[in-house]
Amino acid sequence: MKRILSGIKPSGELNIGGYSGALSQFVRNQEQFDCFYFIPDLHAITVYQDPKELRQRSRELAALYVAAGIDPKRSAIFLQSQVSAHAELGWLMETQAHFGELSRMTQFKDKSDGKDVVSSALFTYPALMAADILLYQATHVPVGEDQKQHVELTRDLANRFNNRYGETFIVPEPIIQETGARIMGLDDPSSKMSKSNPNVSSYILMLDEPAVIRKKFSRAVTDSDMSVRYDWENKPAVSNLIEIYSVFSDMDIPAVEKHFEGQGYGNFKKEIAEVVISKLEPIQQKFHDIVDSAELDAILRDGAERAAAVANETLTKAKQNMGFLVL
Ligand code: TYM
Repeated sequence: MKRILSGIKPSGELNIGGYSGALSQFVRNQEQFDCFYFIPDLHAITVYQDPKELRQRSRELAALYVAAGIDPKRSAIFLQSQVSAHAELGWLMETQAHFGELSRMTQFKDKSDGKDVVSSALFTYPALMAADILLYQATHVPVGEDQKQHVELTRDLANRFNNRYGETFIVPEPIIQETGARIMGLDDPSSKMSKSNPNVSSYILMLDEPAVIRKKFSRAVTDSDMSVRYDWENKPAVSNLIEIYSVFSDMDIPAVEKHFEGQGYGNFKKEIAEVVISKLEPIQQKFHDIVDSAELDAILRDGAERAAAVANETLTKAKQNMGFLVL
């Protein structure tokens, strides 16, 4: 059976980059895979999180999963911190990861760059991410481009473990979609769209109001020649907007180019705001209905139970194979 494990950290409000690279794929993949979608809250705390905000964001993200179309009857939705096998296998995987490997992770390099102090967990984080995936014997991991390196490390760690201790884990494959796997900032097409950018106009949040979305797109940077053409080398800002349009309209790139042939940027920016709004409005509506409901608690409790059943079985197998007494 083909199985998926993936998740989005509750360390900031979700922007449309995370929707494009991850959440929209999560929804689509339910058709073909047995899916486990979690909120990696243990990952979020690798940088300080205000406890009240962490609680609120974790809830909001779970509500967004459901509102975007993850069906909790079909797919397990759960919080990482509710399934203790993650922390436990995370430690075992730390013993398999090499210091040099972890030092080469670009996300660690980016996040620690210029900081006087970073937590040791920020450094060992990819070992926990490997544990997340391996616990579910996932065959596939849908992620955006920036997580590819971590999934590759997971593959290396799974192979190393299997070679040392006998077949224990399935070696997973990343799924990275062709369009929308790396959405860039609206202010600068050379850096990833991210909530950590101090310029709020650089990103669109999933919960932004229509008026805000229109304003942000109207301010988006474009390129010097006036055509709506997909060409990352010469027209990165417009190519980024075309990818966003494609993800939110379900039109492929050539169809988007054709649609805007002979038109200038003004109309393009207006239309892109409208396709994004029309996709986000029903999601926002559903989000508000569910975010404070007891139904959401029930979904997360049920998801954690289903997840723990699978995760604990793998953990026991890994411990047994490593030589722990399992009584
Ligand atoms: P995180 O929380 O930074 O991002 C969640 C997912 O969204 C994708 N993404 C983007 N895709 C396209 N354009 C963007 N601008 C953009 N920003 C974010 C990310 O690639 C990711 O797929 N380590 C992971 C969370 C994690 C995880 C896991 C994922 C922990 N354990 C196990 C998969 C499996 C992270 O920090 O993603």
